[in-house]
Amino acid sequence: MTSLSLMVIAALFLRLVMTDSHSSVALAAPNSRLKYTCTPGRVVKHQECCKWFEILDDMQENLFENECGPEAHESLRAMFHDAIGYSRTGMFNGTYAGGGADGSIMFHAEVELAYKANVGLDEIIYPQRNVALKHDVSFGDIIHFAGAVGLTNCGGGPRLQFFAGRPNTSEPAPDYMVPAPFHTADQIFERMADAGFQPDEVVQLMTAHTVAAQHSINPGFNSAPLDSTPQDFDGQFFVETLLRGTEPAGNGTEQGEASSPLPGEFRLQSDVLLARDPRSACEWQSMINHHEVMIAKFERVMTKLTTLGQDRGALIDCSDVIPGSSRLNHEAMLPAGKTMKDIEPACALIPFPSLSTVSGPVKSLAPVRHKYAHH
Ligand code: HEM
Ligand SMILES: *[C@@H]1O[C@H](CO)[C@@H](O)[C@H](O)[C@H]1NC(C)=O
Ligand SMILES: *[C@@H]1O[C@H](CO)[C@@H](O)[C@H](O)[C@H]1NC(C)=O
Ligand SMILES: *[C@@H]1O[C@H](CO)[C@@H](O)[C@H](O)[C@H]1NC(C)=O
Repeated sequence: MTSLSLMVIAALFLRLVMTDSHSSVALAAPNSRLKYTCTPGRVVKHQECCKWFEILDDMQENLFENECGPEAHESLRAMFHDAIGYSRTGMFNGTYAGGGADGSIMFHAEVELAYKANVGLDEIIYPQRNVALKHDVSFGDIIHFAGAVGLTNCGGGPRLQFFAGRPNTSEPAPDYMVPAPFHTADQIFERMADAGFQPDEVVQLMTAHTVAAQHSINPGFNSAPLDSTPQDFDGQFFVETLLRGTEPAGNGTEQGEASSPLPGEFRLQSDVLLARDPRSACEWQSMINHHEVMIAKFERVMTKLTTLGQDRGALIDCSDVIPGSSRLNHEAMLPAGKTMKDIEPACALIPFPSLSTVSGPVKSLAPVRHKYAHH
């Protein structure tokens, strides 16, 4: 063995010992000393986080009405469209693009909401903006807080981390940074890699489409969900995108619409491609029957997304303000009327998991609207 390799081994050993002693110090510290009680039952590590409980209550009551409805879905989409305006090179198409999760989609709403990819986001960005102004918090913080809060209303929803303290000012993100549903897998992977995401992480982010509907690609098919359970953060999206398309797709004028497998369901062409591409198909399929892993991976990749372009050291961890979600009481299933023969498996390494079929008649999926009629 050379002396160099001995040195390397010694250095690795030292690191192991040091990391270990470091973590045992953190564990030994009494937790109670590190916590603040904002109001009874509402405890945080950092006192500065207390004001977010007021914003939580305000949003749940007045914006989301405690539902995993259209506002919760749009708030999740807004997180992505704000944050993905980021390139690791700091530039995109000759323009500054280093802001990331900075609230620029709200600060420069008149610029960014005019981009084709952002059609419809005005419906959530302006109401969120009012909440930010009312509570005097930054536009970046409110977008990435709202998305996390909305998701807690979804069955089986994740508990995203939330960091507060993004600066309020930003530059507008340039156009063409948000992937489009008519892009090829190559185009999507290239854009996402430019922002720092590998194909597996792109799949993990796509879990968001399990609580989603479309409004703008085919306006004649407004509020059509992307899976059969748009109020649940489950694996159905990953199953249903692998079903053979059978329904006619619009009238052919819609860029990015694909033939869907279920009446009332909308299918994006980009989801069809990502579900079947050799670079992403196995990660996609793995999401179907590993709910806890799917959630853990989504939480991790969303922390990365929502802090893109931000100085993590300057942010305060207010994750303890985000409540837990209700648990899911169902496994991934084949929708009524479908059998394993309708699946188009795309992962060459692992067989498609065997799923049972939802019993009962085939029904057209309902559009995603509010549970209660109001306003
Ligand atoms: C990478 C490729 C992606 C493409 C091409 C894409 C495309 C789309 C399109 C076209 C819609 C329909 C919008 C409308 O007509 O209203 C949509 C909806 C949605 N997207 Fe994506 N998306 C992508 C990734 C993501 C990611 C990473 C997230 C979040 C982490 C996300 C979250 C959502 C949500 C929550 C909706 C539903 C919005 C609603 O119900 O109003 N998407 N997406
Ligand atoms: C953020 O910027 C907007 C627009 O200039 C301003 O109205 C708002 O008060 C600012 N908020 C904070 C927390 O600085
Ligand atoms: C760069 O911007 C121009 C318009 O300014 C646009 O036509 C072109 O498609 C953009 N290129 C990319 C790679 O997005
Ligand atoms: C096709 O659909 C688009 C979008 O929904 C609509 O604007 C257009 O009028 C439709 N065209 C025909 C021929 O029905």
